[in-house]
Amino acid sequence: MTALVDAGLAPYDVEVVRADFPVLARTVSGHPLVYLDNASSSQKPRQVLDAEREFVEQHYSNVHRGVHTLSQEATDAYEAARTTVATFLGASDPHEVVFTKNATEAYNLVAYSFGNAAAGSRFSVGPGDEVCVTEMEHHSNLVPWQMLCERTGATLRWIPLTDDGRLDLTDLDTLVNERTKVLAFVHVSNILGTENPVDVLVARAREVGAFTLLDGAQSAPHQVVDVQRLGVDFFVLTGHKMLAPSGVGVLWGRKELLDAMPPFLGGGSMIEVVQMSGSTYAPAPERFEAGTPVISQAVALAAACDYLSALGLDRVAAHEQALTGRLLDGLHALDGVSVIGPATTESRGAAVSFAIEGVHPHDIGQSLDELGIAVRVGHHCAAPVCRRYGVPATTRASSYLYNTAGEVDALLEGIATVQRFWRR
Ligand code: ALA
Repeated sequence: MTALVDAGLAPYDVEVVRADFPVLARTVSGHPLVYLDNASSSQKPRQVLDAEREFVEQHYSNVHRGVHTLSQEATDAYEAARTTVATFLGASDPHEVVFTKNATEAYNLVAYSFGNAAAGSRFSVGPGDEVCVTEMEHHSNLVPWQMLCERTGATLRWIPLTDDGRLDLTDLDTLVNERTKVLAFVHVSNILGTENPVDVLVARAREVGAFTLLDGAQSAPHQVVDVQRLGVDFFVLTGHKMLAPSGVGVLWGRKELLDAMPPFLGGGSMIEVVQMSGSTYAPAPERFEAGTPVISQAVALAAACDYLSALGLDRVAAHEQALTGRLLDGLHALDGVSVIGPATTESRGAAVSFAIEGVHPHDIGQSLDELGIAVRVGHHCAAPVCRRYGVPATTRASSYLYNTAGEVDALLEGIATVQRFWRR
């Protein structure tokens, strides 16, 4: 509660919020479910489930393809979802929102589009060009750029990490230089919890004329995002981490860039004129939405945005900061437990990775599950981070807007139980 009071925000009633999430009422292994695997995927409130069901039951049809009533209603709902997401992101134009099937598709979209650009165009990447990422990227914002560099002969560079889980910006001016075509980096790390200094990185990219892509998969669900204020060229989110179903993601990009970039996937809906000898392409966003798009998932994502906006993402952020502070304090107080990532709540999100001396993360995860506590164990699709900190894997607890201080305490007690069990 302290952080909420400090921020001058009226806290919301977490029990009222919890009542919106049917799954939170269940038990696991005879214990109340304590769901702390939100960085992997969040649970869904009735409002989102109802919105998707109502759409599918009453209005479902394919979009942009029919003259009949249902097709029109479905198209209207789909395009209204685009407008809702644009507003949620502070975008100036709904046409800057491209629906994808997930965040991974969005990174690949940009990387493949750049790779498809004609030599000499502003998007083309080739020998002598560089792409810069960070050492804390999720594989989804790393491997597509590695593949782009392999295909084109460009060079991949990365900003390394400090011992306390931050970006080491000492050599930023060398790593991001006149040859840099793209600087792609994560807003909030899924494994370390670190929130990166977007302003510093964007300023450097602008100095050298590099495009910027910000991975917002772990920020958009938890804090107010304003793409215009962030100053990036592209921003990516995924629905399933922010109360929406799986199967929908978003690429936001500056309209002028999206309209000029070459397509990624070819097919129906992304064209203007098709002849046997060749085709011309629609402007964004259709240019990047080949085939039947993710219709009901987009409608549900809009409902999730509405839910988050109604609750207030500033209040969500304050709620999570209080939980994260409680968890960090509790972990620091336990002997033989170390946090991998920033030790305080300063510039960090709600994902907290830790190690327990002498116990493998997979054993920790299984033992906690027997107590009804869901955490994620493994390399969290960020294997280079584990390598950097000399661990094979971590245990990660990640809270969200419906978690409680009591659940954090249950986790801390669970960790103490695990320690007692494995020390026997
Ligand atoms: N990116 C997801 C995670 O961090 C799957 O768990």
